[in-house]
Amino acid sequence: MRMVFLGPPGAGKGTQAVMFSEGMRFLHLSTGDILRANVKRGTEIGQKARSFMEQGLLVPDSIVIEMMLDKIKTSEAGKGFILDGFPRTVYQARRMDEELKGLDLTIELVVYFKTSIDIIIYRLTGRRICRDCGANYHIVNMSPKKEGICDKCGGELYQRKDDNEEAIKKRLEVFNGQTKELIDYYKKQGILEEVSGDLDAGKVYEAISGILNDRDKNRT
Ligand code: AP5
Repeated sequence: MRMVFLGPPGAGKGTQAVMFSEGMRFLHLSTGDILRANVKRGTEIGQKARSFMEQGLLVPDSIVIEMMLDKIKTSEAGKGFILDGFPRTVYQARRMDEELKGLDLTIELVVYFKTSIDIIIYRLTGRRICRDCGANYHIVNMSPKKEGICDKCGGELYQRKDDNEEAIKKRLEVFNGQTKELIDYYKKQGILEEVSGDLDAGKVYEAISGILNDRDKNRT
């Protein structure tokens, strides 16, 4: 299955993409993770993207589109994939559709994570991430045994630079202004399904699994 996970920041797209890529061996391509890895390595892409990301703004299409299309083309995309955080504008979606059509890799399902604003702010302001293994924590809900230290690998926990209230507000504005119109774009193609991002992660996983099972049944 070739899928896009679409939703506001903090909706749980990345969490579910990791769960599905492990359980079903889909390829997980996260634009945010790829950009952050570039920032960390100090590459040209990273240097150009950094300030946009820190302010909660979209990184320019001229950087993101080629970067993601290259990743899709050079990965084992034929096995199925989850795009997490891409596309984020109708322009990105159109460019991707044109390109994937030629490769016989068109998107088959878009999962929209409808999520309440209070929940988004609560999750993101409390999120902490391990510098070494990338494990996620929440200072209240899912706190590590020892403050600031990863339970899994002993690495240092940090807060993403865009997980402060000002940047989160900006990211939500960007979602409502530029990304939300993708809902209609994919509805018109008949490939959009909605899940509640407010539910706990296990329940969201069940809801998406149900959608995938129904799709499988309808194929046979
Ligand atoms: P990106 O990294 O994609 O950030 P985002 O979309 O803002 O998403 P998040 O990673 O914050 O949230 P998520 O929905 O993945 O939630 P998660 O699973 O982590 O992008 C960052 C930046 O890169 C952008 O602002 C932009 O600058 C740039 N960028 C990226 N893509 C771009 C593009 N296409 N074009 C241009 N620029 C682009 O969960 C959040 C927290 O909640 C975690 O702590 C998790 O443990 C917890 N959690 C998750 N699910 C649940 C649940 N169901 N119940 C309780 N807690 C949960």
